[in-house]
Amino acid sequence: MSKFQMTKRGKLIFDQKIGGGYFRDCYSVKGYADICIKIINPKPGLIRKIQLKYFRKKLNLEEYETYKRLPDEIKRFFNPVHEARENFVVTSMPLDYDGTPSLSLKKHDGAANEKFWKEVDFLFQFLIEHEIWFFDVFNGNNMFVLKKSKDEWVPLIIDYKQIGWKAFPFQIHLILNLQKKKKLRRQYERLVMKYKK
Ligand SMILES: Nc1ncnc2c1ncn2[C@@H]1O[C@H](COP(=O)(O)OP(=O)(O)OP(=O)(O)O)[C@@H](O)[C@H]1O
Ligand SMILES: [Mg+2]
Repeated sequence: MSKFQMTKRGKLIFDQKIGGGYFRDCYSVKGYADICIKIINPKPGLIRKIQLKYFRKKLNLEEYETYKRLPDEIKRFFNPVHEARENFVVTSMPLDYDGTPSLSLKKHDGAANEKFWKEVDFLFQFLIEHEIWFFDVFNGNNMFVLKKSKDEWVPLIIDYKQIGWKAFPFQIHLILNLQKKKKLRRQYERLVMKYKK
């Protein structure tokens, strides 16, 4: 793997690996505390490999397009993507009010904060009402706890590439809206049960 990528900002040099998912690894960037860069996992498992080859070749570009098209009412919940190419995305590094990197709901070990869960609920209701099928946003790794002040915490989604049926091409039943709704609700309910403190 190359240790840098040429971007609109110029050459970005990878620093520390700060996370890894099934599809992508996430790195901090030398000299920039406010962004991170995600690159396609060089060694994905077999299923992801097939997905990357046939269904999700452009997932980074798609996530960028998704960000640009998000409805105003819910845009604040999504971590901005600044730039994308086929093999990487440049995104914001979520930082809390005191300048420390925000944590995922999982690493934060859940959240005991009324406003936070009200916002999660608002996002869920909005997605259902408008039939926007963002899978895997109600997930402890992909949802971060962004602390705007000591008491004001809001959910921030750092991974929103999984939209609709093509996110799960092997689950044929997801062609039906009713089934998509069921899946989204299940993910939301699981998140609340697991992380609401
Ligand atoms: N903007 C960010 N700031 C800090 N950490 C991040 C950021 N984006 C991603 N991470 C970390 O890197 C991990 C992998 O990123 P991401 O979820 O985008 O990868 P993925 O492979 O697409 O995910 P999945 O396994 O859910 O399909 C995240 O779970 C998180 O821990
Ligand atoms: Mg993820």
